[in-house]
Amino acid sequence: MPPLLLLLLASFLLPPPAASAGTAQPSSCWPKTCGGLNITYPFWLEERDRPPCGPPAFQLKCNSSGAFMVKSVYQAYRVVSIFAENQSLHVVDINLPLDTGCPAPTFNVSLVPRPLAFSKANKELLFLSKCTAGSQPEDSTGFHSLPCDRSAFVRLGDGRNFSRSHIQGGIPPGCFFAFVPILEVPNGNGDEYVVSLKKGFLLEWTTVPGHCPDCMESGGECVYSDTGLNFACKCSGTLLPEKCAAAAVAVASARPNVQGGDCSASIRCGNLTISKPFRIVPDQATEGSCGLLGFQVVCENHTPYL
Ligand SMILES: *[C@@H]1O[C@H](CO)[C@@H](O)[C@H](O)[C@H]1NC(C)=O
Ligand SMILES: *[C@@H]1O[C@H](CO)[C@@H](O)[C@H](O)[C@H]1NC(C)=O
Ligand SMILES: *[C@@H]1O[C@H](CO)[C@@H](O)[C@H](O)[C@H]1NC(C)=O
Ligand SMILES: *[C@@H]1O[C@H](CO)[C@@H](O)[C@H](O)[C@H]1NC(C)=O
Ligand SMILES: *[C@@H]1O[C@H](CO)[C@@H](O)[C@H](O)[C@H]1NC(C)=O
Ligand SMILES: *[C@@H]1O[C@H](CO)[C@@H](O)[C@H](O)[C@H]1NC(C)=O
Repeated sequence: MPPLLLLLLASFLLPPPAASAGTAQPSSCWPKTCGGLNITYPFWLEERDRPPCGPPAFQLKCNSSGAFMVKSVYQAYRVVSIFAENQSLHVVDINLPLDTGCPAPTFNVSLVPRPLAFSKANKELLFLSKCTAGSQPEDSTGFHSLPCDRSAFVRLGDGRNFSRSHIQGGIPPGCFFAFVPILEVPNGNGDEYVVSLKKGFLLEWTTVPGHCPDCMESGGECVYSDTGLNFACKCSGTLLPEKCAAAAVAVASARPNVQGGDCSASIRCGNLTISKPFRIVPDQATEGSCGLLGFQVVCENHTPYL
């Protein structure tokens, strides 16, 4: 994804002394609030010219409308609440027709940056739209036409499989089909669907790559891979797996299956020294004889990428 790549690139291009002169202090990342929302790690608020305080998926931007997930589709997921205790958050997709319920959504709300995922606590609303004259769903399928659009229909989903063959009664061939996760089931199996859209849905996470606060506290800068799932701590020109301390290196090299050979040799990539457990790979990630998956670095134009 170009924005992520740019972000990563930008973080490497920051002049090292300026970047570590006070801006990378954890205290500049937290505490933060946005409206009534307390922002705590792994969530963080983006700020110009500052290295990330946490993983990309948890990056938020704050404006007068609220806190928005920067990596969500069109930055449209507004965060309503964060439940750190059970690793979930409640969001509303402001790209949905929240005011009138029309026009019916024509896109699936099915994308979320990893490691976030849709919660199984959500139900789904199923929408048929732009149905051509002869292809209205049969009454038995439970679809109701929208009050504001007779060629669009909605009903509550009944399972987690969305392929056409899994929709009871089938989907008329002349209609668009889209689904939207919802936390609150509408009354009357559809008529109150706008309320459900407004209430939003739940996302969850199980793992958070790295621990950025530790890295920053040790004087390092957090670096995340393009996927947002791999983490490194950049310590005066060297990438380390956790933080800038001898102890962190020891922990990493104590992990099994990092073998000898030429792995101990450090390699320069631009201004960075790449050394164990990181290693330069010619191309894509397979776990090699040295360097663990997730610590493999591609050196391109003197710029290292995780
Ligand atoms: C390497 O460091 C020099 C001097 O600090 C800087 O001018 C140059 O832009 C850096 N290059 C990269 C790729 O970070
Ligand atoms: C946010 O933090 C403040 C200070 O710790 C606390 O008083 C407040 O209740 C918190 N708000 C929420 C929504 O958790
Ligand atoms: C706040 O940011 C979101 C996401 O980028 C955007 O959709 C919304 O229009 C912004 N609100 C204001 C008041 O600028
Ligand atoms: C987490 O806790 C909150 C508050 O109790 C609750 O609303 C939410 O549904 C819970 N999340 C999950 C995934 O169960
Ligand atoms: C939504 O997902 C379903 C099932 O994966 C698919 O059949 C449908 O074409 C998708 N709708 C859109 C608008 O992409
Ligand atoms: C959904 O798909 C899974 C695996 O493909 C299957 O085991 C399950 O029975 C399906 N559920 C429904 C409601 O069709």
